[in-house]
This record gives sequence, C-alpha cells and structure tokens, in this order.
Amino acid sequence: MSMFRVKSVEQSITDTEAPEHRLKKDLTALDLTVFGIGVIVGTGIFVLTGRVAKETAGPAVALSFVAAAVVCALAALCYAEFASTVPVAGSAYTFSFATMGEFPAWIIGWDLILEMMLGAAVVAVGWSGYLTSLLSSLGIDLPAALAGDDPVFNLPAAVIVLILTAVLVVGIKLSARLNLAVVAIKVAVILLVIVAGLFFVKAENYTPFIPPATPTPAVEGLSAPLIQVLFGITPVAFGVVGIFSAAAIVFFAYIGFDVVATAAEETRRPQRDLPIGIIASLAVCAVLYVAVSLVVVGMQPYSRLSEAAPLADAFTAVGQTWAATLISIGALAGLTTVVMILMLGQSRVMFAMCRDGLLPRGLARVHPTYRTPYRITILLGALVAVLAGLVPLAEIAELVNIGTLFAFVVVSIAVVVLRRARPDLPRSFRVPLMPLLPVLSVLACLYLMLNLPVETWIRFVAWMLVGFLLYIGYGYRHSRLARQSPKP
Ligand code: ALA
Repeated sequence: MSMFRVKSVEQSITDTEAPEHRLKKDLTALDLTVFGIGVIVGTGIFVLTGRVAKETAGPAVALSFVAAAVVCALAALCYAEFASTVPVAGSAYTFSFATMGEFPAWIIGWDLILEMMLGAAVVAVGWSGYLTSLLSSLGIDLPAALAGDDPVFNLPAAVIVLILTAVLVVGIKLSARLNLAVVAIKVAVILLVIVAGLFFVKAENYTPFIPPATPTPAVEGLSAPLIQVLFGITPVAFGVVGIFSAAAIVFFAYIGFDVVATAAEETRRPQRDLPIGIIASLAVCAVLYVAVSLVVVGMQPYSRLSEAAPLADAFTAVGQTWAATLISIGALAGLTTVVMILMLGQSRVMFAMCRDGLLPRGLARVHPTYRTPYRITILLGALVAVLAGLVPLAEIAELVNIGTLFAFVVVSIAVVVLRRARPDLPRSFRVPLMPLLPVLSVLACLYLMLNLPVETWIRFVAWMLVGFLLYIGYGYRHSRLARQSPKP
C-alpha cells in the first residue's frame, strides 16, 4: 500500500546533506544537555505541581514525579537509539517515516503538532500566572478578566506568544550561550526553592503523605480518568490511584527531552552525543523535580497551594516575599525559552512535513532577508496566541500529554521494527534488554494514557480524525515521495 511507502534512512540522511538544507554542526553533548534542560524545566514544575498536589495527589505528588520519570526513562532509551541511528531533524516524524511509512509518519507529525503547538500555549499560560503573581507582589493587580487563575481571555499569555513569534521570524538565533544563561537562572531558582524552602518545611504537612481516596466532583463524568470509567471504579481523587492520575498530568514536566532529538542535524557527533543529551537532561530534571515537589508540599498544607504560581506563592505564604519575587523573575525568564523552543521545534517538524509535500510546500518558503520559515512561524504564532488566550491551562496540558505519550508509544514500537528490518545499520547506542524495554515502554505509556480523563481522549481522537481526513484529502496526493517513486 502506497500509504505505507517508507523513506529510507539513507534517503533521509541524504536530504540533510543537500547544500541548501545543510545546518551548521556545532553542538556538543553538554550543549545538548543544557538545551534539553532549557526546554524541559517549565510550567510542569513551576505551575502544575500546585494544582496536582491540591486536587489529585496531595504530598504524594513527589511519587507521581518518580512514576512519570520512570515512564520517560524507558521512552528516552528508545529515542536515544533512534537518534543515534537516524540523526535527522524531525524526531519521531522522521523515525516513523523510516520504519512504518508515510501515513504513520504523517499521523506522528500531526500528533507532534499537538505536543509542541499546544505545549507552547500551556507554558505561555504558566508564564502569565507568574507575571500576575510578580506584579501583585509589587502592588499591581491585573484585572481578573485578563489574567490570574480563571480569566476570560488570558492577555499576557497571548502577548508573550506574539512577541516570541516576532523574535522567531526575525531569526534571532537562540545561541547555546543565551540558553546556557537562562538554564543557569532556572536551575538556580529551583535550587533556591529546595535549599531556602527546607527551612520552612513542617512535618505535619506531610501527614497524611498519601491522603485517603475520596470521591470528588472534580473527577466525575467526562473528567474521570478513562481507566476508572473502563473498570467501573467510582472516580476518586487522592489515594494510590490518585498518584498515577497525577503522574499522567505531571508527565508534562518532562516533555522536552524528546525535542533534543530535533537538534540532530546541528550536532557535531550525533551518534555519541544525542543519547547522552537525551538521557542526561531527563535525569537531571527528574532529581530536581522530586526534590522541589517534596519541599513545596512540606511548606504549606497541600490544600492551600496556589494554582497559578505555587512555588513563589509558597514563599509568600511563609512571609518570604523576597524569595517569591526572585522565583517569579526566574520562572518568567525560564518559561520564555520553553515557549520559544517549543514553537521553534514545531516549525522544524512542520517544515520537514512541507518539504516532503504532506503539507503545502509554499508554507515552507523561507523569508528572503531573515532566512526563517516565516509563513509557518506566523501561522503557528497566531494559533498559539488564540489558544493561550482562551483555553484553560489544565485542559490543554492533558491534551499535550496524550499526544506526547502516543508519540512515545510509536517510537518504542518503531525502534523494534527498525532493529528487525535494518539490523545492518550502525547503532552507537542500543536499547538494552531488547525487546523487553521497548515493550515495557509501550505498556507504561499506555497506562499513563489510560489515566487521563475521558474528555481528553475524546479530543485526542477527534484531532486524529481531522488529521486522517487531511492526509487523505491532501498529503496522500501531494507527497513528494509518491512522485519520486511511482511504484509503491
Ligand atoms: N516540560 C515543559 C514544561 O514543563 C514543557 O513546561
């Protein structure tokens, strides 16, 4: 079937060597790790920790961070093997094209839009929460309709997206050095929370560490996790069940290590450095997250954590406004690069899809002066700004998670497929215990997906159906691979 025509690994690699598409290979393993931390540390830890501890897991949110880290580690090993075998920008999209064919690749590309485009919107909303908290600590209160926990239109979130879009169009390259500075600030702020926060931890805030499971209106109906509905369990929050429901949400905090793979074409020794960058950035973040979440839930009773800016507000609650101000400033700087890099990654994947003819090739046109894919960037920026303005953070974060987990499932399967189909390819990094680890990775990702709310599944399926129709109506006919090889 021509829908499953495969673009060979060799062909993908050759495409990157065309002089007009060759990128500068400058990044080292350390740069990639720092780049990874730059994309990973964002709304997940700075914002979602508060909401999830308050509504779903209590102090045991730290265990949710451990569970999500384990799932990510399994997927990270599969990404590492792939990236070391097919060092081509486009990440999961390219990996699928090389193993399962054009239609699965399209589906993954369409799915990555959910991850990065919506991810950028979520982080922009998180940014807005910290801006509001910072301004209010300076005595400036933004109107509740335009900012805060439940605005009608989140104006700061939309504005920051538009500003970053302009920056991306003009093509200011986020050099490794600038990213390094932002990462240094972010990590310093997280360490500040851990060290300064320790002085305000009260043992009584840890009891009960796993609050008893309680039926709650917050998780009834379509908001209930699919797994509870499937097995006819009365929807509950907290308890051991709550730890896993929370893990499916804080999973968001780890998203980004997979984005490291999109820098493949800019890496000096991709075969060696990509696996290091992917795994090291994930490991560093996991340690930081578990420590921060433990401290924050120790500082305040979990039911009183703030939803918009929990880390900063925990310090305000114990009277340390100076720390709250520092944290808000650090979070603002840190979240900005996450939004920017997610939009950048998104434009790369869409660029690759347009290059292959699965989306209109005209969209991929590069600006004559700035040499950036300005059409894609502006289109994306406008969409992300509207989404960030209108949709509540929680709902989009869950949709981002299901999209990303789905990509992890596909990559974990594809790594096994490629081992079988092309055992001859040089692989500088190999997933250990093949095929057990990829199988575990698939199961773990599916398990977290089942822990997401029913309404998230409905939205996900609807998104995928739209993608399917688009492929049949457009991509299938305009695919460049189809034109180059008339025989399927
Ligand atoms: N992991 C990134 C964040 O938490 C997307 O903001």
